[in-house]
Amino acid sequence: MLIAPSMLCADFSCLGEEARALEQAGADWLHWDVMDGHFVPNLTHGPLPVKALREHSDMFFNAHLMISHPVQYVDGFIEAGADLICAHIEAEDDVTEFLERVRGADRQSGIAISPDTPLDDLRSLLPMLDLVLVMSVFPGFAGQSFIEGSIERVAEVRALCEAEGWGAMHVQIDGGVSDQNAGALAAAGADVFVSGSWFFKHSGGYAGAVAALRACEA
Ligand code: DX5
Ligand code: ZN
Repeated sequence: MLIAPSMLCADFSCLGEEARALEQAGADWLHWDVMDGHFVPNLTHGPLPVKALREHSDMFFNAHLMISHPVQYVDGFIEAGADLICAHIEAEDDVTEFLERVRGADRQSGIAISPDTPLDDLRSLLPMLDLVLVMSVFPGFAGQSFIEGSIERVAEVRALCEAEGWGAMHVQIDGGVSDQNAGALAAAGADVFVSGSWFFKHSGGYAGAVAALRACEA
């Protein structure tokens, strides 16, 4: 299980301390939620905080681009030092060009799929992916409720990856994740867990949240 706290819920007035605390607590990745106010009805940030933290943290940086034009902005996240860059299959740009740009820069690549998008178009993209991000909320905001049926979606994606010979593919789950659903999600085939509101509000602090998620592992 890889744990990827969503930085959207971190204290942006002290991101450096937050990243150090998350690393000390045993988190694996930092999940950066990038929103453009067009693809989703919310606006967060571009590559700036990713770049600012890059010199201060060795953690794995996972950029989740909830933007209409990932091809136009991908270079900024490559230069900022993101390790894995993920765009939405629903984006306006040609996602294969996005994936080629990411892999051409020797970074890991991912595709995110929203809860109401059929999985049909995923199969042809698998050879260009290191990760499939299954959204268990509609993208745009932290603090939403986990959408029932997402566990089955994870199982479908995992089965598709296995059937197509991509058994090592990361299957990431994002949205309303907590210790209440992580066990079933892991059993269904998720291996990367994004968590925002539940994680950052955990009564046991970041280490408590990490321990609670790890306790869900099969
Ligand atoms: C939503 C983001 C998620 C979200 C996670 O568009 O992609 O990463 O911030 O936050 P929670 O865990 O509170 O749903
Ligand atoms: Zn996200």
